Amino acid sequence: MSHILIQGGTVVNADRAFRADVLTQDGQIIAVGENLQAPSGATVVDAGGQYVMPGGIDPHTHMQLPFMGTVTMDDFFTGTAAGLAGGTTSIIDFVIPNPQQSLIEAYQIWREWAKKSASDYSFHMAITWWDESVRRDMGTLVQQEGINSFKHFMAYKNAIMCDDETLVNSFKRAVELGAMPTVHAENGELVFLLQKEVAAMGISGPEGHPLSRPPTVEGEAANRAIAIAEVLNVPIYVVHVSCIEAAEAIARARARGQRVYGEVLAGHLVVDDSVYRHPDFATAAAHVMSPPFRPKGHQEALWRGLQSGNLHTTATDHCTFCAAQKAAGKDDFSKIPNGCGGVEERLAVIWDAGVNTGRLTPSEFVAITSANTAKLFNIYPQKGCVAVGADADLVVWDPAGTKTLSAKTQHSKGDFNIFEGRTVRGIPSHTVSQGELVFIQGDLRAKTGAGRYIKRPAFGPNFAANRLRAETLEPVAVIR
Ligand code: URP
Ligand code: ZN
Ligand code: ZN
Repeated sequence: MSHILIQGGTVVNADRAFRADVLTQDGQIIAVGENLQAPSGATVVDAGGQYVMPGGIDPHTHMQLPFMGTVTMDDFFTGTAAGLAGGTTSIIDFVIPNPQQSLIEAYQIWREWAKKSASDYSFHMAITWWDESVRRDMGTLVQQEGINSFKHFMAYKNAIMCDDETLVNSFKRAVELGAMPTVHAENGELVFLLQKEVAAMGISGPEGHPLSRPPTVEGEAANRAIAIAEVLNVPIYVVHVSCIEAAEAIARARARGQRVYGEVLAGHLVVDDSVYRHPDFATAAAHVMSPPFRPKGHQEALWRGLQSGNLHTTATDHCTFCAAQKAAGKDDFSKIPNGCGGVEERLAVIWDAGVNTGRLTPSEFVAITSANTAKLFNIYPQKGCVAVGADADLVVWDPAGTKTLSAKTQHSKGDFNIFEGRTVRGIPSHTVSQGELVFIQGDLRAKTGAGRYIKRPAFGPNFAANRLRAETLEPVAVIR
């Protein structure tokens, strides 16, 4: 039997923080309390002056993703290992079938790729087309394979974009199965048109990327997806909310009593759109992702969304491409592979910009980096909580430790870091994954294949419980 005793720290859960030792045995937490005794042979970690928190869960990553004619730099091993170095002990990645490809076939391919994961992982399934086989396979995936969330790309026309017919069919089927529909909210038709118009103005560089994907394009899609979900009485989760328009759409719907949830990327909280005007193509292109980084004012709206509870989770959309891959768009910004990294840096960036500034308490930090994701995707309290019986996925957090983030020292295989040069205060000193110490004071001991596929059960019958429809509410409850 293998034991770890984490001694003398402050346990931080989403609901409270308290002084306690934590004892793990073979992958589970078996005791949380004061003055715990170390069983013989136990490894003892001194957490004096530190926080002991549930390991981070990143609900939005793309490891080994084939996308825009290339494949991301990080595979499931290098990507999850980087996560462990930053205190993230689970990821939820995406299976993305090509249009007309069987969902089950794509799922099996991704399961195979993910076998090398160093940390636990799970999958959302993207719905990129529709027919009766898709409806049937959604059922198989929920009932037999533990997938309880379906992703819909409202952008990427002529590739993986969903039209409204597919959205409606899939949302309806998802709720029937007790699964959460999620959306990438950008109007793909408008992006397609704007890309052409921006190019026609003679703009071919990365500065054209945000011009072709303005906040209104995201706001329109968020409002449309939320309206469809309202009519169908389906809860909905909006991934990578990047702007005021989308955040307000979510806040309005929630004020009407609709179950709408929002995810924010660490990058969108601290990086602004000036990066696209960098004179060096490689630097500007390295920041090309969708939705793009926004003018600074949007960042405050995202922070307020997290603080008020109108936005719920934080992620990275970790999707790394190197300079040579980004160069595919040298003469045409619309061909630059979309994606940036961050799985290693998310916790430290959010702690530094969120907790150190007083925007978030440590418990609120745990909520938005771990517990809320576990709840929304139905793996709580197995994950997202320091409690007896939970998985021994933990991060020992040194609030006084500092680090300057850089591509030179990151564990990701990517050659760029969107947080380059940022010095953060608050870093992991130890990461425990499945009861094993995998990161000790800068020493990463990630093991290929140690991660497990985590099944996420369907939600129960009250998932889409009848609620008052907006029309029946007094107008006073509606923010216009
Ligand atoms: O630019 C991004 N976000 N790339 C990954 C695919 C997606 O839209 O999530
Ligand atoms: Zn997306
Ligand atoms: Zn993504």
